[in-house]
Amino acid sequence: MTPRARPRLRDLTSADSSRVHEITAATGVFREEELEIAAEVFRDCVAAPGPSGGGVGAGVGAELQLRPYYALGAELENRLVGWICWGQTPCTEGTWDLYWMAVDPAAQGAGVGSALVLEMERRLTGRARLVSVDTSGRADYGPTRAFYEAVGYRAVARVPDFYAPGDDQVIFTKALPE
Ligand SMILES: CC(C)(COP(=O)(O)OP(=O)(O)OC[C@H]1O[C@@H](n2cnc3c(N)ncnc32)[C@H](O)[C@@H]1OP(=O)(O)O)[C@@H](O)C(=O)NCCC(=O)NCCS
Repeated sequence: MTPRARPRLRDLTSADSSRVHEITAATGVFREEELEIAAEVFRDCVAAPGPSGGGVGAGVGAELQLRPYYALGAELENRLVGWICWGQTPCTEGTWDLYWMAVDPAAQGAGVGSALVLEMERRLTGRARLVSVDTSGRADYGPTRAFYEAVGYRAVARVPDFYAPGDDQVIFTKALPE
């Protein structure tokens, strides 16, 4: 068996916006409105990149100063194939949200998503107690839920009809080591 190529992880800038949008849209699971929100979140992530790989949304409004977002990209053969974005959950002690992630369908199943989650968790170790991620209970999100379980997240709650009638919210969490 040939070993998997290891993705190269890097910080993202506004120059990556269109490729990030392309990847997110190509997954085929997000509605148009969600794609717009993903693009907005990404813009906030890279609005004022922090010094150590965290795009801190400073300077773009008081709300974002309180709620910075961080983003990271993954490349295979020098092409961006995945991204992830996370931030501290307001009004909590040490809880962080994985807000968004997407991997180009052509690169899925090759370890890119898990590399992104692992690096997010590495950066959060010592700062975060709990990582939380919401996803849909829809059948087409089955692979997404399987992915979160595979990388150590546990489905802890389900809110019926949260996104739309018949489209439940499933909340996954993972406790990080102190
Ligand atoms: C979910 C997603 C980010 C996973 O990224 P990925 O690069 O394909 O995931 P990985 O290759 O790192 O998979 C890690 C493990 O997750 C599990 N997994 C991944 N895809 C799976 C699938 N389609 N079905 C079942 N399990 C799956 C496997 O256990 C896998 O380990 P293995 O390859 O050793 O078997 C990607 O599929 C994606 O972008 N999906 C659409 C967008 C999305 O749902 N984003 C999250 C929004 S909440």
